[in-house]
Amino acid sequence: MQHKVNQGTRDGAAVYSPLVLKAYDLWVLGFSNRYAWQCPTRSVLLPFFQQHLSANHLDVGVGTGYYLAHSSFSAKQKIALLDLNRNSLAAASAPIAHLLPLLIQEDILNPNGALGNQKFDSISLFYLLHCLPGNIREKAAQAFELLHQHLTVGGTLYGATILGDHVAHNWLGRRLMRLYNKKGIFGNHDDTLSDLESALTRYFTKVNVRQHGKVALFSAELAN
Ligand SMILES: C[S@@+](CC[C@H](N)C(=O)[O-])C[C@H]1O[C@@H](n2cnc3c(N)ncnc32)[C@H](O)[C@@H]1O
Repeated sequence: MQHKVNQGTRDGAAVYSPLVLKAYDLWVLGFSNRYAWQCPTRSVLLPFFQQHLSANHLDVGVGTGYYLAHSSFSAKQKIALLDLNRNSLAAASAPIAHLLPLLIQEDILNPNGALGNQKFDSISLFYLLHCLPGNIREKAAQAFELLHQHLTVGGTLYGATILGDHVAHNWLGRRLMRLYNKKGIFGNHDDTLSDLESALTRYFTKVNVRQHGKVALFSAELAN
């Protein structure tokens, strides 16, 4: 399905070619998470992903699908994957093909209704918000406006996003931030923890936001 998407939104997804996805786990999840963003994948992000994973799960902004590939599942597991980029959907679905994941090509900022009326008990949003252009209050609110409609009551939306310049990135982080923001791969210069929390509070209850290294980890529930 071909969507009309604006250029800023497209830039945050277009970089994920099959070649980039091949290097992604090593460069981003292995090296950058430890040395630039100071939020290690195996000891912090993976356990956080698994903590809220339910038997009826939607992963949004899937990349290589590392977190799903390293999780265990219930016998009746249902998984849906949503991404703007077909390469990401193909890469993330391959390791969990036995679960017959539902693939949804959709732009989280300009949705075309591809989610229909489906609801999930958990929705993950890892390293997607910092790829989106614009102020986090607005881009997060746009994403949550869509996703809260697809969460069951009492269900959990959770994720992680790299914070902006105010968190005093280290030498490597500053260079990566400058390069990625210039190229439109990131749009997070001004992203703050408190703006993220405000956007979550508009749609959800039991909002929990914390910072690990230069990364915000968040979870929230949908109330009645
Ligand atoms: C940095 S990767 C994150 C991958 C994985 N969740 C992780 O944490 O390693 C961002 C993913 O979000 C997707 N993406 C970027 N902009 C998007 C948008 N506007 N709508 C949906 N997906 C988008 C990209 O194609 C890519 O697969």
